[in-house]
Amino acid sequence: MDYTPYFSKNALRMKRSEIRELLKLVNQPDMISFAGGLPAPDVFPVEELREIVDEVLKEEGRKALQYSPTEGDPRLKEELIKLMAKEGISARPENILIVTASQQGLDLLGKIFIDRKDTVIMESPSYVGAIQAFNSYSANMETVDCDDDGMIPEALEDKLRFLFEKGIKPKFIYLIPDFQNPSGVTLSGERRQQILEIAEKYKMIVVEDTPYRQLRFEGKPEPPLKSLDKNGRVISLFTFSKIFLPGFRLGWIVAPEKIIEKLVMAKQSADLCTSAFVQAITYRYLKRGHLDSQIKKIVKEYREKRDLMLNMFEKYMPKLNGLKWTKPKGGLFLWVTLPSYMNSRELFVRAVEKKVAFVVGSAFHPHEKCENSFRVNFSYSSPKEIEEGAKRLARAIEEYEAEIKRKEFTVITP
Ligand SMILES: Cc1ncc(COP(=O)(O)O)c(C=O)c1O
Repeated sequence: MDYTPYFSKNALRMKRSEIRELLKLVNQPDMISFAGGLPAPDVFPVEELREIVDEVLKEEGRKALQYSPTEGDPRLKEELIKLMAKEGISARPENILIVTASQQGLDLLGKIFIDRKDTVIMESPSYVGAIQAFNSYSANMETVDCDDDGMIPEALEDKLRFLFEKGIKPKFIYLIPDFQNPSGVTLSGERRQQILEIAEKYKMIVVEDTPYRQLRFEGKPEPPLKSLDKNGRVISLFTFSKIFLPGFRLGWIVAPEKIIEKLVMAKQSADLCTSAFVQAITYRYLKRGHLDSQIKKIVKEYREKRDLMLNMFEKYMPKLNGLKWTKPKGGLFLWVTLPSYMNSRELFVRAVEKKVAFVVGSAFHPHEKCENSFRVNFSYSSPKEIEEGAKRLARAIEEYEAEIKRKEFTVITP
């Protein structure tokens, strides 16, 4: 049976990501995958959780296994308020919605803000899951160029001016200010102010997505955009996925109350509530003060892995004009730029033959640009795999370069 006529226009627009198809190749034996964005499972606090889970079941099992308020567990919210206060964000419970991790936050934002063909602005490159979420609401996605200090404010203003002249008023600007996925870059303090000034001038909402913010290996943190927000323009997405557990699917949104009210309604039609059990466990985990030491443990491990990956890239990568990679001060990823005549999809095929994988750059652009770039993850692989994977990747680039040179030579010699 052909189901096409039954699908909604939005569903028909959703296409199976070519990237996910490519990534199927990654599930081969002996493959070293720098492709996923997975935390290292050895840092999960399994033992502490065993005790807390037991306690929750004993002390509040019947309640914790029941449906619960859409807005979230008030006790957890109080802990989150304390957590955010440390970063200069002052929020009341009415400003918080507990969500089934950030990905749901992105989807709910799409639900309440995006009508078909509405425009949203994002960094180039940006998070593939945000592109998918906004695409499912048929958004028109416009990108703004970034450099080593994040989104370029002048480019943002040019883009807004251009769109406004065409009568287009974007719904929001979506940013990942800290250790961005995929680039690893952090938005500078000065630019945070500038971007908020531009948002004020053009009356824009800013969505900041912060999964990697606390995974800082060095230097001083820049203030969250929310902490600088004087006029209720900023919506912030937070998640426990990278600082605690992705498997709990737990995060929260901070926004002005009127926006939270709409998000609550949107969430009711999505999943009624986030698991009360998971919220109760996390509340107790925070209350016991475990999170700080957990983050320290993660930061230590990822810092070592980042250093190792950078050292191995330095050691093994060929010296090619235009080949470079970011040196992130935190997070999970490096962003590699190839010489402009190379294409990361072509490299991907060669890399997979050598049993090493990454995600091609075009996955991180709504119009599949960034073709000579790719993302590598350093949190998941073991140190041994990082060294071996870097060697294989370097060899794949060398061989790809040699092939290109051979072809050029064939063309110019009769
Ligand atoms: C920028 C960004 N936003 C949101 C997410 C979704 O994370 P989760 O739904 O696990 O909170 C991710 C996951 O990698 C991400 O990198």
